[in-house]
Amino acid sequence: MSPQTPYRDQFAAARDNPTEFWREAARAIRWSREPQQILDDSRVPFYHWYPDGELNTADNCLDRHVDAGRGDVTALIHDSPVTDSQQRYTYAELRDAVAKFAGVIRNQGVEKGDRVIIYMPMIPEAVIAMLACARIGAVHSVVFGGFAGAELAKRIDDATPKLVLSASCGIEPSRVVEYKPLLDRGLELAEHKVERCVIFQRDTQRCELISGRDIDWNDALAEAEPVDCVPVAATDPLYILYTSGTTGKPKGVVRDNGGHAVAMHYSMRAVYGLDQDDVFWTASDVGWVVGHSYIVYAPLLLGCTSVMYEGKPVGTPDAGAFFRVIAEHKVDVFFTAPTAFRAVKKVDPNGELAKQYDVSNLRALFLAGEHTDPDTAIWAGEKLDVPVIDHWWQTETAWPMSANPLGIENLDVPLGSAGRPIPGYDTHVLGPDGEEVPNGEMGDICVKLPLPPGCFPNLWQNDERYKSSYLEDFPGYYRSGDAGYFDADGNLWVMSRVDDIINVAGHRLSTGMIEEVIAAHPDVAEAAVVGAADADKGQLPVAMVVLKSSATRAADEIVAELIANVREQIGPVAAFKHAAIVDRLPKTRSGKVVRATLRQIADGKEWTTPATIDDPAILTEIEDQLSNIGYGNKRAD
Ligand code: COA
Ligand code: AMP
Repeated sequence: MSPQTPYRDQFAAARDNPTEFWREAARAIRWSREPQQILDDSRVPFYHWYPDGELNTADNCLDRHVDAGRGDVTALIHDSPVTDSQQRYTYAELRDAVAKFAGVIRNQGVEKGDRVIIYMPMIPEAVIAMLACARIGAVHSVVFGGFAGAELAKRIDDATPKLVLSASCGIEPSRVVEYKPLLDRGLELAEHKVERCVIFQRDTQRCELISGRDIDWNDALAEAEPVDCVPVAATDPLYILYTSGTTGKPKGVVRDNGGHAVAMHYSMRAVYGLDQDDVFWTASDVGWVVGHSYIVYAPLLLGCTSVMYEGKPVGTPDAGAFFRVIAEHKVDVFFTAPTAFRAVKKVDPNGELAKQYDVSNLRALFLAGEHTDPDTAIWAGEKLDVPVIDHWWQTETAWPMSANPLGIENLDVPLGSAGRPIPGYDTHVLGPDGEEVPNGEMGDICVKLPLPPGCFPNLWQNDERYKSSYLEDFPGYYRSGDAGYFDADGNLWVMSRVDDIINVAGHRLSTGMIEEVIAAHPDVAEAAVVGAADADKGQLPVAMVVLKSSATRAADEIVAELIANVREQIGPVAAFKHAAIVDRLPKTRSGKVVRATLRQIADGKEWTTPATIDDPAILTEIEDQLSNIGYGNKRAD
């Protein structure tokens, strides 16, 4: 039998007696009604944690610390090289700002359970808006600023918000992004009509407000009174966060209040090895789950100082930015996506800029969002002189499913692996027959139900999609959508997606959503998009487009329009820049495009003709056509 270790003990305790494990973890949270029941499993496959508990998430993030005499501790540091400014909020100041802004939302008729869309750049007001919703039990849905109006409209129609909160602009290194035209477009395209928007005017660029609909943020604040926390059921939704599925319609991942608060708090200590008063910096965006969990909720639940960074790894002003922020704010633990470090390494391969800063306070670097390539891990580890931890998770789970859990035990995890399953995630690699595959063999990475607290209890008003997308393929398990394997020591290796989701600079995108925009062009008959390997961004979308026989214009012209359409309708974040016009798409006899083979061809890898393909000659044609735009065997680099 294997010797017991702290990690093995905790993992076994969570697996074998989950109710006791999560009862104990729940003691870290302030409940207005302590949960007596820990897990409701009466409606399998739907599980609910702490069904009779009652709490308020914002109370736990802010008021609880102020009440404990920690009101003067810094809760949030906004570090913004793009506006050359820094702003700090203590726990007491942030609590007061949130209570006041909750009054603004309330004045707009928003009550417990109502939805509020937040479409904002990386400014403290975005955090205040999220926590203000939580304070009155409203359900926020943050939409990433890199998405354009049409994507915003899809989310408005699904979440049917009473109110939208936005700002005049965001700031990218190369340009000011005007939010207002994107917001107006989203509101115009949406079928659900939103009557009120509260807009924060930034000094960099103000915007015109539409009379009768838009309200200036500061004017609204001047009329508002602070509001107290409203207790909500642990199972009530805290937020909805949309993520890419395999179709163009995003999935509304729901987060509850109770399980989320417990899991966030637990993960801060167990996974990241953090303690109250530590400084945690997550360089991501509040529009992604990483931002929700580790810029906003988890650090505040534990009583840490959270750094919110409005800038990029390079160009704001240079590739020393990460090191500057770590040194200046004495960051204890840093979390970002590998692509961000690849960007730094590319510009400053010898780390000359890094040498200018004292980063000795740092204890660890965590990377997620995509597989960490060993080169990047080694480079970052050397420059920061800390352990680099690749950990794996998803929007659906809100917190890591696998990692080297530093707070429990520093395990011996080989480079390239995403670590061991975190206590609470009873993880198995299954074959197509649903049986566990032997160590070393690839399969579907699945988690035995129930998922631990914090993970999504359902999709917003769509139980059927929840079941069909995640639970039906392997009954009794959650199917992650990632493929990988366990090695003989129990380390998990996450290798690829099993579906048509691609990962572009740590952003999760569906090829289906890009295909929909391309196929809507009047000259296009059909299109297939695959994610081709890219040294900087991990993957980039590449389209193969078949034109209608009626198309008469030059291919270049059409391709330029397709690129512009994707940018306008999905957003710049899709980073769609390459399309090849092809004569036909290779399909199986049942009509499915052979995407895996197309991906291999685009990557210039060895490929074999799938046995089920209708007409094998198409593949060599496609190889030639892709080489014309720089992909495949004849790729220039
Ligand atoms: N608002 C508007 N536009 C945005 C935006 C935002 N919030 N974020 C990105 N964009 C734009 C960029 O300006 C760029 O536009 P361009 O085509 O005009 O150059 C485009 O979207 C693509 O952006 P991106 O792929 O993100 O590249 P980048 O050079 O701007 O940034 C990184 C590179 C590495 C900093 C960035 O991709 C990043 O932070 N990735 C990590 C993502 C992440 O946190 N994932 C969660 C898991 S940790
Ligand atoms: P998102 O929901 O946007 O956080 O994206 C989640 C997806 O990103 C996962 O399903 C994986 O495909 C990928 N991912 C996240 N972290 C890792 C990791 N450490 N290694 C490999 N893939 C990862």
